[in-house]
Amino acid sequence: MTKPLTRRKFIKRIAGTMFTLLGISSVGYVYAHRIEPSMLEINHLEMSHSLIPFGFNGKKIVQFSDTHLGFQYNLHQLNELVSTINDFAPDIILFTGDLMDEPNKFMQINQLRSILQKLHAPLGKYCIYGNHDHGGYGSEIYRDIMESAGFTVLLNQSVPIHFDSSSKIYLTGIDDRMLGRPDLPLALKNVPSNTFSILLSHAPDVADDASQYPVQWQLSGHSHGGQVKIPFLGALVIPPFARIYQEGLYKIGNNKPLMLYVNRGLGTTRLPFRFMAKPELTVFTLRSF
Ligand SMILES: [Fe+2]
Repeated sequence: MTKPLTRRKFIKRIAGTMFTLLGISSVGYVYAHRIEPSMLEINHLEMSHSLIPFGFNGKKIVQFSDTHLGFQYNLHQLNELVSTINDFAPDIILFTGDLMDEPNKFMQINQLRSILQKLHAPLGKYCIYGNHDHGGYGSEIYRDIMESAGFTVLLNQSVPIHFDSSSKIYLTGIDDRMLGRPDLPLALKNVPSNTFSILLSHAPDVADDASQYPVQWQLSGHSHGGQVKIPFLGALVIPPFARIYQEGLYKIGNNKPLMLYVNRGLGTTRLPFRFMAKPELTVFTLRSF
């Protein structure tokens, strides 16, 4: 049985069709296809919390996400991005999923590995699975690339990050919500209470569950910030599990709130366009107080 269209969905569908028709032969096409996808926006945020040990004060974390290599984003762009990330001299580098658009069809694995190897972070490089990393039998291809490039793949597990013998925080990664088997209790079981803990989840909407656990910050991607947005109407398409939290910073809960940051990602999928959703790199500076 076909579901009736709501008025809002109907208007979005019409607007989407109009955008596509308009885009085919106009400046809009050139802008959304060629210009905005290469307009990297670098966002700086403070990640502050009373549980952050003083030794971590001022430490820098760079998050990048959703490159979707092989669709529109290419290795030349990734190589430039790696230089940009290294220029920030991050202490920790995080990748929050969707490396290749279709892992089993991507032919430049060795070049990709050697570009990612150049990323440098003294306190470590960590990543999680996105839905595209599992798709097309990609799970092992993705793990192999990331591990050989020096990343630790966090699959429902946590790791302590030590600055010195008395200062540590925890980093937890869960499997993708769409195509994996995320398990928050398993992932968090070794995290001591009253320790600052950052959760990596490709899907942002997991934050509603995560806010029930002793996690202080969650970093996500997946939404692409809507990728193509219609003025006054919002995103044309937004994937499942990115419908509540689409981009930017959110505070979830009142008592001991969870802070969520949703990165818009770098590449595109399905449609080779970005409109009102520029690609993003996020630089967090830790602040203890
Ligand atoms: Fe993605």
